[in-house]
Amino acid sequence: LKNIAVLTSGGDAPGMNACIRAVIRTGIYNGLNMFGVMQGYQGLIDNNIKPMDARSVSNILHMGGTILKTARCLAFKEEEGMELAYKNLKAKDIDGLIVIGGDGTFTGAKRFGEKYGVNVIGIPGTIDNDLYGSDFTLGYDTAVNTIIEAIDKIRDTADSHDRLFFIEVMGRDSGCIALRTAIASGAEAVLLPEKETSLKELISKLKDGVNTKKSSSIVIVSEGNKYGGAYDIAKSVKRKFTHYDTKVTILGHLQRGGSPSGFDRILGSRLGYAAVNEMIKGETMQMVGLRGNEIKLTSLEEALNIHSYKLEADLLEMTHVLSI
Ligand code: F6P
Repeated sequence: LKNIAVLTSGGDAPGMNACIRAVIRTGIYNGLNMFGVMQGYQGLIDNNIKPMDARSVSNILHMGGTILKTARCLAFKEEEGMELAYKNLKAKDIDGLIVIGGDGTFTGAKRFGEKYGVNVIGIPGTIDNDLYGSDFTLGYDTAVNTIIEAIDKIRDTADSHDRLFFIEVMGRDSGCIALRTAIASGAEAVLLPEKETSLKELISKLKDGVNTKKSSSIVIVSEGNKYGGAYDIAKSVKRKFTHYDTKVTILGHLQRGGSPSGFDRILGSRLGYAAVNEMIKGETMQMVGLRGNEIKLTSLEEALNIHSYKLEADLLEMTHVLSI
């Protein structure tokens, strides 16, 4: 192993820069030549691969986004795109690839590693926290904190006007973000993809609030829930429950930006450091993840196919109990 490249792919997540920094510096410390690939897999195809030194990653630890840029690259799903990517790596004698991203990123990495024998290690970087093998994914903690800050602000105006707010949060198929932000912001209800709550139940919960002298309410809507977006849900609820003046806020991409929390900076540093060290030891086709405060390996196969990162039962129960 002489030359390693790193890329970020899929949705950006706070802490990716801390992780890139750790990968580059750990590699250089161990005498390897390090490369950064721009725009994820697209940069592999376009040969946008740059040599990096220790100073290439100076002063980025605290920055959100990714200095390597990112993309959701369709061309890499085609054989032609993969072959071009391989040729570009081979021309630079790059024999190891570290990918930071979510399940789409790992799917690409797994196919690429299997087909061309390139050493591949994945680092879970997504605000969604939806990968098996890591208790937390990079960016999730920051996103949760960003969302809580936003909901706190909405709470002020909801309370002042005696309003009902539906707040839509990200998490493509996973309710992790919604569940945690609901608890931390004291939301009255939460709609999750993993757990069905009928609109009837939701309205009954809101009515209970009114009957017990709540003057305003907040409902967190996870984007992957089965009733659709926050506007649709607000409309349906309004048809049957007219007590409140109702408003909708979709937090959108502000949830993905911002300076990473201390937790994400440390997680990114640990995962980046571990990814390079594991690759040096000869590991490939693995994901490095945090499990019970230890860095552990999980095969990319398992990370992609096991979906037992279910929402914690106690947290689910708490959303009902603590919001009465
Ligand atoms: O996977 C991260 C995520 O932010 C999801 O929560 C969301 O569904 C999706 O990415 C949005 O993707 P894009 O930025 O491409 O619209």
